[in-house]
Amino acid sequence: MTNSAIGEIYNQQADTYAGYAENRFAWQYLEQPAFDHYVSDFYKSNTHVLDIGCGNGLVARHFVERGVLPQNIMGIDPSSGQLALARQATPGANFVESSAESFDVEPESLDLVVTNTVLHHLDNDQLEAMLARIYVTLKPGGVYFFVDIDPDQSAESFDPKRVNTWKDVATPWGTQVPFFNRQPGALLDALNRHGFDMVAGAPLSIAPEALLEDQVQYEHYDSRPSRMAARFQKIPTMKKIPRYYDVHIPNLIQSPEEEIKATLVDDYFKAWNKQSLQLISQIFSTDAIYDEKPGEREALRGLESIQQYWQENPVAQQNIRTDYHIIGHSPDKAVWARFSAAFIARNKPDVVQGYIKFEIDATTKKIRRLTEWFEHV
Ligand SMILES: C[S@@+](CC[C@H](N)C(=O)[O-])C[C@H]1O[C@@H](n2cnc3c(N)ncnc32)[C@H](O)[C@@H]1O
Repeated sequence: MTNSAIGEIYNQQADTYAGYAENRFAWQYLEQPAFDHYVSDFYKSNTHVLDIGCGNGLVARHFVERGVLPQNIMGIDPSSGQLALARQATPGANFVESSAESFDVEPESLDLVVTNTVLHHLDNDQLEAMLARIYVTLKPGGVYFFVDIDPDQSAESFDPKRVNTWKDVATPWGTQVPFFNRQPGALLDALNRHGFDMVAGAPLSIAPEALLEDQVQYEHYDSRPSRMAARFQKIPTMKKIPRYYDVHIPNLIQSPEEEIKATLVDDYFKAWNKQSLQLISQIFSTDAIYDEKPGEREALRGLESIQQYWQENPVAQQNIRTDYHIIGHSPDKAVWARFSAAFIARNKPDVVQGYIKFEIDATTKKIRRLTEWFEHV
């Protein structure tokens, strides 16, 4: 979808959308609470925010009402009609006719970039271009936050014939808009490849007080997945971790095979927490390779050498607490986990964080190779 085409679609709908958006039920009871939950730490006068696909400026106004100075807010949108309404609603903020994939902002000048129900209007090329621009314009450690339509609400999102295609959908304000069918896994994958780490996110539930406002609307939004939100952090050191780029995050449907892998990953962390040689021998295949800090340290080959390494643990780890989540699967079906671990090493507290790639032997259902990248925090 070209920007002039989508701009024209929203120009034609600007007034209808504005009438609807003003007291938009989903904004009031799903999206706005998500902003308050996930990014309220940015409700400060000096936060520099970019709102991509700002429409008539609902989100910009929200930030101003919560203390951000209007001059620190920029909204961009390809629809001049929507921008005109945004300028009226939030004087002092900068509203610029531009697009997600080509906006022009000083590098490393923004604390926060947000998109509210915009991602589904971007195809994959536009998404990639936007993420590359967001990465450049965010300050180190800056945050990208999105709220969008939850693809789980439609089985079509997972239909291989429909994935990565456009469709027209009916809007709650009585029009049609183009919608790009993208799996959530593909979205997360793109974010990871562009150097963003998900720090929080979830499918959103409608706020309970919405029931008092309008039972019919409440039941509509309560009856099916409707919106999802996630907060991502720009990771300056991401480029140091080459394996991160080949991760593919699958959709949310778990296959029995993935469950076996997830159990092995879980058992590995249990073994680590307990420093259990017995668990280690149950989950690694006899010819397993254990590769910590590839290129910096010689990989251990074979179960016996892994056990010996654990037995003579070089850092005498005690009081270990690990935390991990599986971030995805690479095309070779390996499982990737992100982890952090706190422990006592040589009588001093230490914290490490990084990534582990688990390659599983499909026949024995054991770990064949473990590669671990980490750094001390
Ligand atoms: C559903 S509206 C949401 C508007 C606003 N974020 C809100 O929450 O009220 C989607 C907006 O995305 C904008 N949009 C669509 N394609 C875009 C693109 N390539 N770049 C920037 N904005 C785009 C549309 O013009 C429209 O204003």
